[in-house]
Amino acid sequence: MNFTMNKLRIAIIGTGGIANAHINAYLQMEDVEIVGGSDIIPGKARAFFDRYNLPDARDFEDTEEMLRTLKPDAVSVCTYNSTHAVCAIAALRAGCHVLLEKPMTVTLEDAQEIRRVEKETGKIVTIGFQPRYDGRMKKIKEIVQSGKLGKIYYIQTGGGRRRGIPGSTFIEKQYAGVGALADIGCYSLDMVLNALGYPKPLTVSAVSYDYFGKNPKYNSEEDAKRFSVDDFCGAFIRLEGGITLDFRMSWAMHMDTTGSTIFLGTDAGLKVEPANPESLWGGAWDGSCGNVTLFHDEFGEPTSTPIPLHDAKEDRFFLKCRSFVDAVEQNLPAPIPTSQIIYNQAIIDGIIRSAECGHEVEIHVEEI
Ligand SMILES: NC(=O)c1ccc[n+]([C@@H]2O[C@H](COP(=O)([O-])OP(=O)(O)OC[C@H]3O[C@@H](n4cnc5c(N)ncnc54)[C@H](O)[C@@H]3O)[C@@H](O)[C@H]2O)c1
Repeated sequence: MNFTMNKLRIAIIGTGGIANAHINAYLQMEDVEIVGGSDIIPGKARAFFDRYNLPDARDFEDTEEMLRTLKPDAVSVCTYNSTHAVCAIAALRAGCHVLLEKPMTVTLEDAQEIRRVEKETGKIVTIGFQPRYDGRMKKIKEIVQSGKLGKIYYIQTGGGRRRGIPGSTFIEKQYAGVGALADIGCYSLDMVLNALGYPKPLTVSAVSYDYFGKNPKYNSEEDAKRFSVDDFCGAFIRLEGGITLDFRMSWAMHMDTTGSTIFLGTDAGLKVEPANPESLWGGAWDGSCGNVTLFHDEFGEPTSTPIPLHDAKEDRFFLKCRSFVDAVEQNLPAPIPTSQIIYNQAIIDGIIRSAECGHEVEIHVEEI
């Protein structure tokens, strides 16, 4: 299709919280038309489009019917985690390119199925990790990729909130599938794995807990009753190339932070401090990070050099949607490809399996 003459016709699947960030971005693009969307909750999609004064955008409760009727060129999948796969696959089979919110899916199996259908249909699937578009995150990758650290052998990442258990669809297994691990843990994993160039994960030994989510002392009575996911997890992950990844993530804990992200290399180390330990965490959704320091030897002396970071002003949500639209219009590869994020998902899957069985598990990702 020639998108220079025709606007790219986009539909939104799932019109809850994050769909607002997507539509706000698309509405700034002159080459995009929002044709409609779907939400299984009756009236929710209509109310969503009305809020944006889009009377011509059509609303559906049934996603398949929406895809058949509107035949969009591309979709944003903004549903809760447990329906990511079914919606992304339906959209691909209907001939659409897909911007899929994070985490890619709940299970590795579902993520692999998306990859199979992506390959079969030849459409783009990109995963919505907006911190990738943050200048500070790009700087971290630039330093790691520069070779300045020598051989990188150990990484510690993750983080957490002292109090920050979300509510809504995030705390029930049937909707979210996974808790803190998939909600915010996937960002920390993406921060370090992307900086390294997404090495293959080999094994994982993990634990997970739900002491805070289920406790009415730290959660509302009603939310504590329906809480059925993790609020803390920790994992020891072996990556190819002899790299160890030590990871932990929490929604609530009696601590201000679970520590900085560190990269240890044979020539230098890199420390990325959380921006604000009270409210944010490593690899944060908005790309925020605090001081970045290089630890190295100069003239035989241990030296610590702060790396100046400019306060990023980019609209990361806009850039995430814009890079998707550019890829579709210009026939470019997916900006955040499933070939990378499958390893993020494989680690999440390994953490769940290991925490359940109580010992280390192997990670196998079939080539697609
Ligand atoms: N990138 C970010 O910064 C960011 C921030 C928040 C949430 N998210 C992700 O976005 C996703 C949605 O989060 P949210 O806060 O908007 O959740 P939400 O519960 O507010 O919205 C999800 C909506 O999807 C609808 N839905 C579910 N299954 C559907 C289906 N089969 N067809 C059509 N509609 C369906 C639900 O009815 C609901 O209205 C989650 O995967 C979450 O991890 C990303």
